[in-house]
Amino acid sequence: MPRSVAAPASTSTSTPVSVLELSDVTVTFGGLTALDGVGLAVAPHQVHGVIGPNGAGKTTLFNVACGFVRPDSGTLHHHGTPVRRLRPTDLAGLGVARTLQGLGLFDRVTVLENVMIGADRHARTGFLGSLLALPRAHREDRALRERALAVLEELGVAHVAALLPPSLPYPLRKRVALARALVAEPELLLLDEPASGLSADEMDELGTLVRGLTDRMSVLLVEHHMDLVMRVCDEITVLDFGRVIASGPPERVREDPAVLAAYLGETV
Ligand SMILES: Nc1ncnc2c1ncn2[C@@H]1O[C@H](COP(=O)(O)OP(=O)(O)OP(=O)(O)O)[C@@H](O)[C@H]1O
Ligand SMILES: [Mg+2]
Repeated sequence: MPRSVAAPASTSTSTPVSVLELSDVTVTFGGLTALDGVGLAVAPHQVHGVIGPNGAGKTTLFNVACGFVRPDSGTLHHHGTPVRRLRPTDLAGLGVARTLQGLGLFDRVTVLENVMIGADRHARTGFLGSLLALPRAHREDRALRERALAVLEELGVAHVAALLPPSLPYPLRKRVALARALVAEPELLLLDEPASGLSADEMDELGTLVRGLTDRMSVLLVEHHMDLVMRVCDEITVLDFGRVIASGPPERVREDPAVLAAYLGETV
């Protein structure tokens, strides 16, 4: 899509160009405004957190970034290029991977195969090639298998590669889902509530792991757990009732009176 047709990429004036930018995004469900003129920009190699009390609009924002929800108004840019009518199937081509709360693993194929499926943006001969057993398909299959195993190794779950996901405890399944997102070597990883259902120790490990990804990619982290977000993020956008009430580095957001008021009485 030609850039000249696009509206200027909102408020960000400085280089480098954001990996993902939402500008003035509004989403309504019937009479309810779930997002109200929301903007945020994820810089390269940044972990950008989105927090807010229950019902603030976090998941709706995540769904807009994934193309699950189409905004009533507002714009989405990837690397400064406008993306209109984003569909979930466009994400791989844009270098975006995501994990979902439901995990979305296939129960009847092994962990390794689940992860290999995540890499299909890099497989050029594709499934048909595999069926026809073309030599290149064989080579790609082997390379893919090796890469999938390497990612499983990195996440400390290579030992379950041959097992089926339903046989694994939940925290391990979450790691497999993350491995599947990472094997595609995305430039932007979207995580919706990755810490849900994890113990404090597991959450710590997750934080370290997410931090370690930033040399390779940017991360948009939608998360309820304040501790994790404060520890891991370079920048945080705080939503309340569908509006951005604060944004900035953790030190600043943590002390923002509007944020404290929004979270008053909330257990996070
Ligand atoms: N598909 C939908 N239809 C109608 N209303 C919806 C829909 N999805 C979300 N909402 C409403 O939009 C608002 C924002 O919801 P959203 O799920 O984005 O919040 P959230 O910040 O993710 O909350 P939580 O912390 O509970 O996950 C809520 O009032 C919710 O009830
Ligand atoms: Mg939510």
